[in-house]
Amino acid sequence: MELTTRLADGLIIANPVMNASGTFAYGEEFSGFFDLSVLGAVVTKGLSMQPKRGNPLPRIVETPCGMINSIGLENVGIHAFTREKLPFLRGYGVPVIVNFFGSNEEEYVQAARALDIEGVAALEMNVSCPNVKRGGIEFGKDPEGLNLLVTRVRQACSKPLIVKLSPMVTDICANAQAAVEAGADALTCINTIPAMAIDEETMRPVLGNVTGGLSGPAIKPVALKIVWEVSRRVSVPVIAAGGIASASDAVQFMLAGASAVQVGSASLRDPFCFPVVIEGIRAYLERKGITAVKDLVGSIREG
Ligand SMILES: Cc1cc2nc3c(=O)[nH]c(=O)nc-3n(C[C@H](O)[C@H](O)[C@H](O)COP(=O)(O)O)c2cc1C
Repeated sequence: MELTTRLADGLIIANPVMNASGTFAYGEEFSGFFDLSVLGAVVTKGLSMQPKRGNPLPRIVETPCGMINSIGLENVGIHAFTREKLPFLRGYGVPVIVNFFGSNEEEYVQAARALDIEGVAALEMNVSCPNVKRGGIEFGKDPEGLNLLVTRVRQACSKPLIVKLSPMVTDICANAQAAVEAGADALTCINTIPAMAIDEETMRPVLGNVTGGLSGPAIKPVALKIVWEVSRRVSVPVIAAGGIASASDAVQFMLAGASAVQVGSASLRDPFCFPVVIEGIRAYLERKGITAVKDLVGSIREG
């Protein structure tokens, strides 16, 4: 059974299952639940050049079939990460994919440069961040802006570059293409969907930040459609995220065209789920007589 999957030149991972950014911090807490070396890759919490404190509490609320978070990209900053967190992760021998962001173009470029170091297997660029200079408009919104940003980041680092797309755009395929033309080696689809919750008793928003991002099973059908659409449009590998909680979910995304999957919110509920998802994929392949993960990718039967 061949579980390896290719994400970029020089980035072939042992199996297609990784954690999603932001629900796993820097791996330390989860290492008490299972052996991190079983993962195809570890993805870090989104990092910025400077440490970030995040949004006011409360920052998480459960919804039917999901959750809304407004963490606000709290993180320790790239320098503390490379000093204090990266050595721990490297100890597991698993490729470390570093998720990063900036609040302006220059910060993205600086971050990519600072992360172009030994022990980082690839960069995952979060483009769903408000751009301070452009009045809070997300970077990832228009294909032209995204193309420019990815072009600059591409020039700043030598690592495989994964661009994580926001679903909140007019035509996600146009954004996907813009990122690939600018040099993205792979794409992650999708980030959270803007959402809010209100407490009618207090008559106030539940989240300190008022709005946040919806994740979990509620967004899975949206993510599935996007992964199917994007993977048919671009020739680079697509990594799926959005409501993946089981091997069945993972297989569905791979049938739709994903080369790998990320488990996010589901792991907050069940931190032991990763080995179960991996073994479940193996069992599915065996049952179907498929000998390699790559033969599953995009093999949905249509028509
Ligand atoms: C608490 C929380 C924090 C997150 N932080 C980040 C982040 O720092 N960077 C990022 O690109 N995505 C972040 N995400 C988005 C997830 O990586 C993922 O794209 C999204 O939650 C959909 O997957 P899921 O339904 O499996 O959670 C975060 C999600 C959650 C729930």
